[in-house]
Amino acid sequence: MTIISDDDNKKFKHAKNEDTSSKEISYDMSFETNIRPKCFNDYIGQTGLKSTLKISIEASKKRELPLDHILFYGPPGLGKTTLASVIAAEMNSNIKITSAPSLERPRDIIGILMSLKSGDILFIDEIHRLNKISEEILYPAMEDFYLDMTTGKSQTLKSIRIPIPKFTLIGATTKAGSLSGPLRDRFGIIHRLEFYTDEELTKVIKRTAGILNIEINEEGAKSIAKRSRGTPRIANRLVKRVRDYAIVEADGLIDSKTAEKALDILQIDKFGLDNTDRSLLNIIAEKYNGGPVGIETLATALGEDVKTIEDVYEPYLVQKGFIQRTPRGRRLTPYACKCFNISDINIQQQLFD
Ligand SMILES: Nc1ncnc2c1ncn2[C@@H]1O[C@H](COP(=O)(O)OP(=O)(O)O)[C@@H](O)[C@H]1O
Ligand SMILES: [Mg+2]
Repeated sequence: MTIISDDDNKKFKHAKNEDTSSKEISYDMSFETNIRPKCFNDYIGQTGLKSTLKISIEASKKRELPLDHILFYGPPGLGKTTLASVIAAEMNSNIKITSAPSLERPRDIIGILMSLKSGDILFIDEIHRLNKISEEILYPAMEDFYLDMTTGKSQTLKSIRIPIPKFTLIGATTKAGSLSGPLRDRFGIIHRLEFYTDEELTKVIKRTAGILNIEINEEGAKSIAKRSRGTPRIANRLVKRVRDYAIVEADGLIDSKTAEKALDILQIDKFGLDNTDRSLLNIIAEKYNGGPVGIETLATALGEDVKTIEDVYEPYLVQKGFIQRTPRGRRLTPYACKCFNISDINIQQQLFD
């Protein structure tokens, strides 16, 4: 399997141009590459999704037909890109990795579609950001494996169909709701990635620690897992931060005591919330009496953009039961008041009405 990624190319270029940061970038890339699961066995959790995919892969191999187009959606860091590479490896296919923002001009998407070989996988990240023209080029390509091209000038304008090899498109998005209906309908398999349980994240952490030679025991891994917001990318980042702390302040071993001390210093609380999450909850509580408050207002008050709140912060806060989305805006839940000792009588009244 070969992996060609637009983003990788950019990073390499960047690394070459800027000497000072090149070490850090190549370090981060190899770190990412090493710990990224390569096959279903390494890919922890998402069990329902994995079994469905295994069946589809087997069926497609037996029928000697390409896999149906697949759409993955869910918050960042849950393993969408990783899963696309795992599928390619399990199918013994090549994968081309790109993202919608780098497919601005029609020739970008045409170029990539024409370069595919039979059975290849094309991964398009942030697919909800594809522009209308590129999207329309994709429709016949996905459905019947051809490109509709026009040649000649106005009088002699001719439309021709160019066949392309049978390929599988895997799209990923944090916002399934922003995808147009016609595009969504062309995916045969649509799946949401779920937040990981603490047990699953403990496995992710132990696996990463093993690869990076980080000394950690079961309790240490569990402590980090609990504060990783159900997200493997965050779990991996926290292991590295806690490892640094363990080397400097302890004897190198990450046990629960060391993990908890390090995470306290990083200001990540027992629910996995960081400063921004807590500010968000505080703003709803203090400035807006517990809500409801519109997302734009909330974004301005917090100094973050709406997209970041919707994609990164909110899904976990909703999943944890701290905030609710209502037609009139976001509001705190009684559960949040209990967890964060919010006893303001006005808020209590609003929420329990
Ligand atoms: N199921 C998993 N098991 C182990 N590690 C995972 C899993 N899913 C994701 N990861 C790790 O988390 C990181 C982020 O995953 P990624 O696929 O980039 O997320 P997304 O594309 O959804 O934002 C990856 O580098 C990978 O190492
Ligand atoms: Mg990704």
